[in-house]
Amino acid sequence: MPEGKILVVDDEQRQREIYRDILQSEGYEAETATSGEAALKMLAQNRFDLVITDLNMAGMTGLQLLSEIVVDDPTIAVMMITGYPSIKSAVEATRKGVYQYLEKPVDRDTLLSVVDEVFQRLATLRRTIIGDSPATKAMMRMILKVAPSAHTVLILGESGTGKELVAREIHQHSPRRDRPFLAVNCAALTETLLESELFGHEKGSFTDAHQMKRGVFERAHQSTLFLDEIGDTSLGMQAKILRVLQEREFFRVGGTEPLKTDVRIISATNRNLEQRVKEGKFREDLYYRLNVIPIICPPLRERGDDIEILAHHFMRKAALVAGRRVEGISAEALAALRAYAWPGNIRQLEWAMERAVVLGETDGVELPDLPPEILQATSAAPPPAGIAAAIGTAPAPPIASGPEPIITEGSWEEHEKAKIMEALQRSGGNITRAAQLLGMTFRTLQYRLEKFGIKRP
Ligand SMILES: Nc1ncnc2c1ncn2[C@@H]1O[C@H](COP(=O)(O)OP(=O)(O)OP(=O)(O)O)[C@@H](O)[C@H]1O
Ligand SMILES: [Mg+2]
Repeated sequence: MPEGKILVVDDEQRQREIYRDILQSEGYEAETATSGEAALKMLAQNRFDLVITDLNMAGMTGLQLLSEIVVDDPTIAVMMITGYPSIKSAVEATRKGVYQYLEKPVDRDTLLSVVDEVFQRLATLRRTIIGDSPATKAMMRMILKVAPSAHTVLILGESGTGKELVAREIHQHSPRRDRPFLAVNCAALTETLLESELFGHEKGSFTDAHQMKRGVFERAHQSTLFLDEIGDTSLGMQAKILRVLQEREFFRVGGTEPLKTDVRIISATNRNLEQRVKEGKFREDLYYRLNVIPIICPPLRERGDDIEILAHHFMRKAALVAGRRVEGISAEALAALRAYAWPGNIRQLEWAMERAVVLGETDGVELPDLPPEILQATSAAPPPAGIAAAIGTAPAPPIASGPEPIITEGSWEEHEKAKIMEALQRSGGNITRAAQLLGMTFRTLQYRLEKFGIKRP
């Protein structure tokens, strides 16, 4: 049976029922919504993988719905079907990240083949944990072990090691998987905005509170809430979060009714929380509440052969997105990838491969296609240690004794910032497009813009 849940949105009853029936007859799980507004409500309650929407509808249009979905959960694919196709709406839909734009009438075979293709693409592009090094396997085992319970999990690891991916994976393997996973980046918002994002607010509770708003503690009821960059919260906010964890209830800002919530909390940070507790910057009681089960995301340099597996995976993914044929990675390029220290970890590798695919001129990834920081580090590296290394009997030298990485953690941030600025320039300030160029989700890019304080040109 095909995997994947589909939501069909059309204000015409006959249309939506036809599509739903075709999809169901092929074994897809399909439901219908009568408007964009109704669709958003359903998406807030249930996990869907694909939304098929009409373009012209009373109330919210298909394009408006698309924008909302892309911002809310970029892992959901959207297909648009219209009886009134125009270049303008097709271009706009494409810019906003639509997967397919089809003209009515759509017959059974077309619908099924397009849906099948969308699911195949999703399977390749969907972020799943890849790698089978002992370090990655141990991490996977932990994920599978903790997923079934509602225990609080703290994910620790350097920048770009897959902390968010791990959080999503735990949710996917948990009994809560049918409800949407919600994430908040605690470092990306001001104190006031974070408070209202977490707890919501009552109408009129502050100047801009024109309407009541539900916070994520409320919306993630019976689901999973991911508190990203928790190490960056203020002591005041920590006290407020601690209260929810202890009482399992909270107040909206300006509210007087206590609200109950059954939410599973997963938090993550790349900071050393124990150190911050010692320095008085992080509450010890909250640390213990969050750290019920710690999961550590190992840095890429400790994942052995995963580098090769991941490099090939990212190469294929980038080739698919760029519509290019790329067959493989040369031995020299692979050796350089292995020798490098990866301060930006898996995200940095992903970008390196995207860059190589986009800039490369042959049908494979060659050494010169790699980014300069990797080439410099390679040329600075000492030659392999004699014959023992060549026949593979010598153990790999420990990282600490190798050459210093040319890019340090700090300068990688600068590098990342520069890449984001460049992508924004190229996209003319369009975040969706820039995110595509960077191979990031819209959300991630938004987080990073806020984190680095970058203003759109
Ligand atoms: N094991 C993996 N297999 C495939 N892709 C991965 C893996 N780990 C991470 N990635 C990819 O690497 C990128 C970075 O991962 P993610 O955003 O989860 O890291 P992070 O630890 O949250 O980073 P940061 O500290 O910068 O927030 C993402 O595009 C993610 O899909
Ligand atoms: Mg992250």
